[in-house]
Amino acid sequence: MQDGVARSDPATIARMTDRYAVIGNPVAHSKSPQIHTEFARQTGHDIAYTKIHAPLDGFKAEVAKFRDAGGKGLNITVPFKLEAWNSVNQLDSLALDAEAVKTIAFRGGEMVGFNTDGIGLVRDIKDNLQHSIKGQRILLMGAGGAAHGVLKPLLLEQPEHVVIVNRTLEKAQRLTAHFEAPRGLATRHISARSYDDFGSEQFDLVINATSASLDGSMPALPDHIFAGDALAYDMVYGKTTPFMQFAQAHGARATDGLGMLVEQAAESFFIWRGVRPQTAPVIALLRAAL
Ligand code: ATR
Repeated sequence: MQDGVARSDPATIARMTDRYAVIGNPVAHSKSPQIHTEFARQTGHDIAYTKIHAPLDGFKAEVAKFRDAGGKGLNITVPFKLEAWNSVNQLDSLALDAEAVKTIAFRGGEMVGFNTDGIGLVRDIKDNLQHSIKGQRILLMGAGGAAHGVLKPLLLEQPEHVVIVNRTLEKAQRLTAHFEAPRGLATRHISARSYDDFGSEQFDLVINATSASLDGSMPALPDHIFAGDALAYDMVYGKTTPFMQFAQAHGARATDGLGMLVEQAAESFFIWRGVRPQTAPVIALLRAAL
């Protein structure tokens, strides 16, 4: 009977529910609560997932408050990914390379940082879209945080090479040097380029990691940039972007980044809960609601 009383006590039930949140500014648009609630329902895990709008100078204070209240983990969104990288006690190897933290797990007294973006992109391309990365000629557009975050997981898939193209060439060169020198990668594997320096080259996988789609534009690409069977991947989700339209008009298969969003969330769920949820039904659910 004692046991029965304890189980029905609302305070006990509240303690048993593990708490997670996404923290950002702005954060209202985030689909993470919906995605993680679906994962929890599917796997039978008892979690509560909320949004935290942190003041621009209040990230660390909000994280501490959440942790002290028993929170188990956080997802980090703009503009706090670098601050999170500097705040955690431990970094996994992908987060270390990405210089950005997307997921925090509170483990004992430790705050461990992960970057799940690249894994999410690679899984969406390989598993959902059934497009191999190994041996491919990849064009990565952009050299900001989004490009940086996915580069290492792409390189681990052993593409033929990755060309980073950016409006500001020096940023692409810095990103190339960051990955080239310490890992012994040759310029055959990774190189920097500006948009007016393409020649007749073609690519099997073109990834738009610029923020141009957000304001409805795209950097100019040559008409011949897509090889046969090329995949054009826009990391922005929820709309057909000018980049996707351009790709379709030039014979490539084009996709937005909705699958990446769900896959990186699934990786967070795995880090926190130790189980891999099914992503296809959640991608379909979100797609239907767009
Ligand atoms: P994020 O974290 O989303 O990567 P960011 O670090 O500000 O954001 O980087 C944005 C990237 O998109 C940069 O590579 C930027 O090019 P610059 O480095 O030359 O600024 C690129 N970008 C944004 N708008 C663009 C446009 N209209 N044409 C080409 N590149 C653009």
